[in-house]
Amino acid sequence: MTTWLFNVINRKIVNQVQNIPGPKPIFPLGNILDLLTVTAFERMQKYGEEYGDITLFWILSQPNILVNSPELFEEILSTNRDAYYKNSPTNQTKPVLRSDMFIANGDDWARKRPTHPFIKPDANLRFNQLLPAIRELINQNYQQFSAQGTIEDFYDRLWDLYFYVFGKAVLDSEMSPELLQDFKRIMNELSRRMQGLNFSPDPRFWRKLEHWFNSFESLIKQRQQEDNSNRADNLSYGLTNKTGLTIDELQDQLSAGFVAGVNPVATTIISATYLLQQHPEVKQKLAYEIGDFWQQNPDGYDTTSIEQLNYLDRVVNETLRLYSTVPLLLRQVCPGAGVNLKGHHIPEETPIWISSWALQRNGKYWPNPDTFNPDRFVAQPVPFSFLPFGAGPRSCVGESFARLCIKVTLIEILTKYEVKMDSDYQYQLQTDAGFSKPKNKVKVTVKSI
Ligand code: HEM
Repeated sequence: MTTWLFNVINRKIVNQVQNIPGPKPIFPLGNILDLLTVTAFERMQKYGEEYGDITLFWILSQPNILVNSPELFEEILSTNRDAYYKNSPTNQTKPVLRSDMFIANGDDWARKRPTHPFIKPDANLRFNQLLPAIRELINQNYQQFSAQGTIEDFYDRLWDLYFYVFGKAVLDSEMSPELLQDFKRIMNELSRRMQGLNFSPDPRFWRKLEHWFNSFESLIKQRQQEDNSNRADNLSYGLTNKTGLTIDELQDQLSAGFVAGVNPVATTIISATYLLQQHPEVKQKLAYEIGDFWQQNPDGYDTTSIEQLNYLDRVVNETLRLYSTVPLLLRQVCPGAGVNLKGHHIPEETPIWISSWALQRNGKYWPNPDTFNPDRFVAQPVPFSFLPFGAGPRSCVGESFARLCIKVTLIEILTKYEVKMDSDYQYQLQTDAGFSKPKNKVKVTVKSI
């Protein structure tokens, strides 16, 4: 009855998307209840398993399409990408991301994308320069963890660690605890806004945000007076190269580096810690590889030597496959005639959901998908079936730096510390500000070996 009523009331739009499989909508909510009962990325996995490559579901009277095949991912993110644009989470993130390319489109995005220092051909040279500081921060923090013995909220502590790491890489600055608090408050607000509460009435949030951006502005002014040519951070890159960005745009690019990077790196380290504890044979094999690496590089290492660690690379990939930290990508069909997907007409402005979480756990492309098996990456994955960093021209600009942070952490700590979660800990992720993060507090004990 309620589905019949839904179809009658919305008949004009229902007629435009007929014959696409999907759950029955009920009046007036559509399928919203499905999204309230489990996390969105788990729901998308269930839809994919039930309805196949393409699913129609409704948020109120708005049709939404979930795609669930590498071919469709490729079409939307690469070959026919101009038929789509990013319209979400634009409003939710606008006060924080402001003019950053993450939410830009068209010419504005095309102008900003090539300016990012993390994707420049010389990025590795700068990463090498940053390596000693990153290593030091990781070691200092793990020493503190082991001195403390028990860490009640490991995610929170890793968040702090990578905030300071990003401070070095993005600004060449020792970030103050006050700025860390600003950042946490800003991310909490982003998380709240992403749950659909798309306004921020709390004046304390706006004050923190102002303080955050003002501090970037003063740092930029101060550094404009200095010679930055020997520095490796993104701010120095922006000041010494002709990027064409205005000072405001540079500020937004720098700030977005923290917003985009700190959370997913912290979550990936926790996922890896969990998976390695569950799979001692993998941990042992990785420890051998890293032990050999230390013997061959007693005086330190650089980004080129890290590339020789093949098993480490596979462990990181397999961790990101099972625990994607950006589990959903969103696009919207451009205004105009609409698009055709798998023989179905999809009207203009329809939101399209691309779930890396679902595809990376799909048995069609990943045999025994729930098994943690780093060696599956000895073979190349099916194109567009593995997208923890997105794919196509809008893939993540921070991928190399994020991978570096994850790998350096494992190189530095795996053979020096034992990090243990309770043996009965149920590791699960939930969505937070568009990322995934541990659902429950992660308590660990840390011992030096
Ligand atoms: C483990 C860490 C990270 C993961 C898993 C990750 C994941 C992703 C994914 C999946 C996308 C594609 C979004 C889409 O297509 O809608 C993306 C885009 C992006 N990421 Fe990351 N990211 C990470 C770290 C970083 C870092 C460190 C930065 C720092 C600058 C960064 C900056 C960006 C930007 C600016 C975009 C938008 C690119 C564009 O639209 O052209 N990310 N990221």
